[in-house]
Amino acid sequence: MSRELLQSVRDWFQAKARPFPWSDSKDPYAVWISEVMLQQTVVTAAVAPYIRWMARWPTLAALAASPESEVLAAWEGLGYASRARNLHRAACRLVASGKFTLPADYEELRCLPGIGDYTASALLAFAFDQPALTLDANLKRVFLRLGAEAQWTSGIEVRWRALWATLIDGPNSRASNLGIMQLGQLVCTARNPACGECPFASACLSRERGLTASIPAAKERTVTEKATVVGVFWKQEQFWLARPLKGRFSTLWLFPPLEPGKTPGHTSEGARNLTTRVHAYTRYKDTLSPLLIPWSDSGDPPLPENWIGCWMNPTEASRVALASVYRRILDEAKVLVGTSVAT
Ligand code: ADE
Repeated sequence: MSRELLQSVRDWFQAKARPFPWSDSKDPYAVWISEVMLQQTVVTAAVAPYIRWMARWPTLAALAASPESEVLAAWEGLGYASRARNLHRAACRLVASGKFTLPADYEELRCLPGIGDYTASALLAFAFDQPALTLDANLKRVFLRLGAEAQWTSGIEVRWRALWATLIDGPNSRASNLGIMQLGQLVCTARNPACGECPFASACLSRERGLTASIPAAKERTVTEKATVVGVFWKQEQFWLARPLKGRFSTLWLFPPLEPGKTPGHTSEGARNLTTRVHAYTRYKDTLSPLLIPWSDSGDPPLPENWIGCWMNPTEASRVALASVYRRILDEAKVLVGTSVAT
């Protein structure tokens, strides 16, 4: 990479930049909202939610003045509610300390909830014309291909950050970062890159060596298999749903895992096996063997440590968030319980 090559990407970007509703704005609040949305979805899918959001909360102060529940509701459909919660929290914190815009300082930005390296850098580059590197998957792919390197590593990152600092100044930061980002989105795509249109073509080592198709190399994923017996306790058409207090599933209801030997209901009479189902998440493949267990004790069924439980009828269960595989277990159990109640 050289100053000349980077200039050629900025020229390409100037000619080809797509007019998104956030493209012309240097309002830090608008940049922040669009960048957080763009981490969640593809560019075109962010347009409508962005327009809606900015009409409803055009400023940081307006966002901070709204109740969190409204902000979360507006985010629905964009996934990860924690992003919306963090936007609201950060807005409240800034407004509470008398600030009505975002700070133009990397460290201060990073102290705000939900603002990581990418978002802080995007704010500096796109809103404040400061040198920064918005290192997203597009930039990484372009850089890897330029250097014919298979996978992103911390060593490669250190080198690119150092090189970037020598090529970037405030005024060219926005177009340099956005130019390479768009190059990754439209030309140097993961599959079938259009190398003939690329301003970097003459300098691209992977192109020269015929390696573009295999860069970036797919990550090897090791899948860890697990097997869990889960207890579907029921009484009087209510089901015992449970939730861990911490961790990945703490916002979802599940059926609790049964620890063999420790659970009285496990061996109780009338228990029956439901269909075995696979719960795949991150690097786990958990084979769930659900056991439908009628519960007649006066106390509640057992729970693992740091879990909470709740009896819910089918209507209540339909209103809470269940991990999808557990929803299918519940649906099967409802049919069987309905049958046994009837007979
Ligand atoms: N992806 C992330 N930020 C973007 C932006 N500002 N424009 C287009 N695509 C993006």
